[in-house]
Amino acid sequence: MLYRKIGKTEEMVPALGFGTWGIGGEAEPDYSRDSEQIINMEIALDLGYRHIDTAEYYADGHTEELVAEAIKIFPREELFIVSKVWPNHLNKEELEKALKRSLKRLKTDYLDLYLIHWPNPDVPLKESLDTMAKLKKAGFIKHIGVSNFDGELLKEAIKVSPEPISFNQVLYNIVDKNPEKELLPLCQENDVNLTAYSPLKRGTLPSGVKTILKEIALKYNSTIYQVMLAWLLSKERVIAIPKASSPDHLQENLNAADLKLNPEDIEKLNKFTS
Ligand SMILES: NC(=O)c1ccc[n+]([C@@H]2O[C@H](COP(=O)([O-])OP(=O)(O)OC[C@H]3O[C@@H](n4cnc5c(N)ncnc54)[C@H](OP(=O)(O)O)[C@@H]3O)[C@@H](O)[C@H]2O)c1
Repeated sequence: MLYRKIGKTEEMVPALGFGTWGIGGEAEPDYSRDSEQIINMEIALDLGYRHIDTAEYYADGHTEELVAEAIKIFPREELFIVSKVWPNHLNKEELEKALKRSLKRLKTDYLDLYLIHWPNPDVPLKESLDTMAKLKKAGFIKHIGVSNFDGELLKEAIKVSPEPISFNQVLYNIVDKNPEKELLPLCQENDVNLTAYSPLKRGTLPSGVKTILKEIALKYNSTIYQVMLAWLLSKERVIAIPKASSPDHLQENLNAADLKLNPEDIEKLNKFTS
């Protein structure tokens, strides 16, 4: 497994995590496939995944409940658990309550990382980040971060936060390269990890990029999805959190962390524009 340093600390996070959007429902809970979903996450852990990305928003909290079931036999300190607070809970009272609900659903005493899921211009950013810093000092959170913040907002967050902003989680994949313009260099300069969500473009790729990916995949005896992940992981500070619901996909994605693309192939993929 490939690891990334967290911010300026000596602590490490697995560069390939496991996404949970859709597990146990989407915006609403769906209890119909609970056992299957728990087994899938247990398989992920057996295969070696240790970084799990979830959120209070996912299935209105039910995804966190299913994560709790899957992780219960694993030593807590071996896991890196991320959750996110929804924008309607960003004032100081609501944020603290939201975190405590997430901890209860996840059956854990702390989160490794807590993210502001989306910015909310109606709540001063400093109020949310001060509250997160207080909760970090109290031991409920190890690291704090943001999600869906553009360059300007990330700069503001870094400026007003009493604690380091260690992560920004954003849409980033071979087709959606927007973060490369400003955000990724800004993260790299400021020791912020950039977590790429939807790193596989949810499995829907335009034919142009598929052709390039297939050519490269053939050379490495790998799949196009592994090349997509390896390309992201070739970049300093970048982490990827693909979601997968079959053992084959889980294993395939995990192996991508060991795939090293050569500089010419990385350049070819860098140049691709949709
Ligand atoms: N912060 C945010 O606002 C935000 C937004 C979106 C997502 N996220 C996080 O990021 C995670 C990942 O993003 P995502 O779920 O949107 O999309 P994704 O990881 O890009 O794509 C998931 C899709 O790809 C398929 N897939 C996975 N591995 C595959 C493989 N090796 N070969 C072929 N298909 C494969 C999956 O199918 P199967 O399920 O059939 O395996 C699933 O349909 C989420 O689960 C969530 O934790 C965060």
